[in-house]
Amino acid sequence: MSTLTTKKAYKLEGELTLPGDKSISHRAIIFSALSSGKCEIHNLCSGEDAARTLEIFRQMGIKTEAGGLHNLTVTGRGLHGLQEPSTVLYTGNSGTTTRLMTGLLSPQRFFTVLSGDASLNHRPMKRVVGPLRQMGACIHGRREGDYAPLAITGSHLKGIDYTLPVASAQIKSCLILAGLYADGVTRITEPALSRDHTERMLEHLGVPITRESTTAALAAAAEIRPERYDIPGDISSAAFFMVAALLVPGSEILIKGIGVNPTRTGVIDILQAMGGTIELQNIRTVCGEPVADIFVRSSRLKGITINGPIIPRAIDEIPVVAIAAACAEGTTIINDAKELRVKESDRIATTACELQKCGVTVQEQPDGMIITGTEHLAGASCKSHGDHRIAMALAVAGLVAQSPISIEDCDCINTSFPEFMTKLTELAG
Ligand code: S3P
Repeated sequence: MSTLTTKKAYKLEGELTLPGDKSISHRAIIFSALSSGKCEIHNLCSGEDAARTLEIFRQMGIKTEAGGLHNLTVTGRGLHGLQEPSTVLYTGNSGTTTRLMTGLLSPQRFFTVLSGDASLNHRPMKRVVGPLRQMGACIHGRREGDYAPLAITGSHLKGIDYTLPVASAQIKSCLILAGLYADGVTRITEPALSRDHTERMLEHLGVPITRESTTAALAAAAEIRPERYDIPGDISSAAFFMVAALLVPGSEILIKGIGVNPTRTGVIDILQAMGGTIELQNIRTVCGEPVADIFVRSSRLKGITINGPIIPRAIDEIPVVAIAAACAEGTTIINDAKELRVKESDRIATTACELQKCGVTVQEQPDGMIITGTEHLAGASCKSHGDHRIAMALAVAGLVAQSPISIEDCDCINTSFPEFMTKLTELAG
């Protein structure tokens, strides 16, 4: 397991592009496989999580052809063309693969088993298994279906009207995928809007789905048309460079072609509210998703309070926002973020624990944390806790710490962003 070390950087400069958005990549693979023909996917996320989703479809008879590093042709077999796999479908560390596939596999006419790595198999699945059972799904798993491995016997589903207990794109998308096959209408309401890539992609594909406020509703689909998908750069990956450029004095960078879907731009709003100079340029729409170039200049940051509906819009970026907060003047309070406790690690506990090693005062709260900014982040020996976003956030901290920060167990970065260190090194010159 590899250890990564980063040290003080003198400035970050230049332009960069990033691999495709992980969430959109999963969905492009799914809808290509369910389409009735040949689809092209450009700028697919190169991480292991998207590769798990792709491999699962290959196990169900889908043919794919690589067309260069990040490009792929997928030949769909239609909504009813998937074949029963003869082995367990392995989802690795990917919560998105597991939850979305549980929704898609529940109405298939065959039997499947989904299983992931040790971390994944301890993440809550009742949140999808519960409503899917209400739709008529037959799913068995450890702890009454809360933990994978999950065994799914395909069955006939009926639409339900379901209100999510938490804002979650994984639960919502799982139920939308099940709803594509269900009798009647499937209606899903969230307490706040989570990322809406599934809904946008269906709209872009011309599949009927209605949306009003935080409710989405659909009936069974007849067909999904083949499409070319151009995946924007991942804003969750861009966030590490945004924070790095804000913190390292004298930096100016332009991150080109990044997805700026409003359900994902919480991190930009937060960093701007902290005093960061971040500008969106050349805003355009690609495949139903807003895309922009993001200009960032180093800035003095101040602590703020972060809570409410902005949390689901920035949920994956909180670890790197915590690094920004650790270097800001004053106190940053993060609340309403209990969901962080059930991510790839308990991100409230792991962020607090690792920042404390760097000499930062962090008070853990049940649903967030209170971070007191310091001018002198200390070097330290840290751990990733097997969580890619904790590893990359700490690597950013090392760029401004007084002595190097080393992070143990960094192979996990490959789950979302294998090019992370190469890109960072390019910018640091
Ligand atoms: C994702 C949704 C989010 C996010 C995850 C990817 C998706 O999870 O944390 O990294 O692609 O739908 P929740 O929807 O469970 O909050």
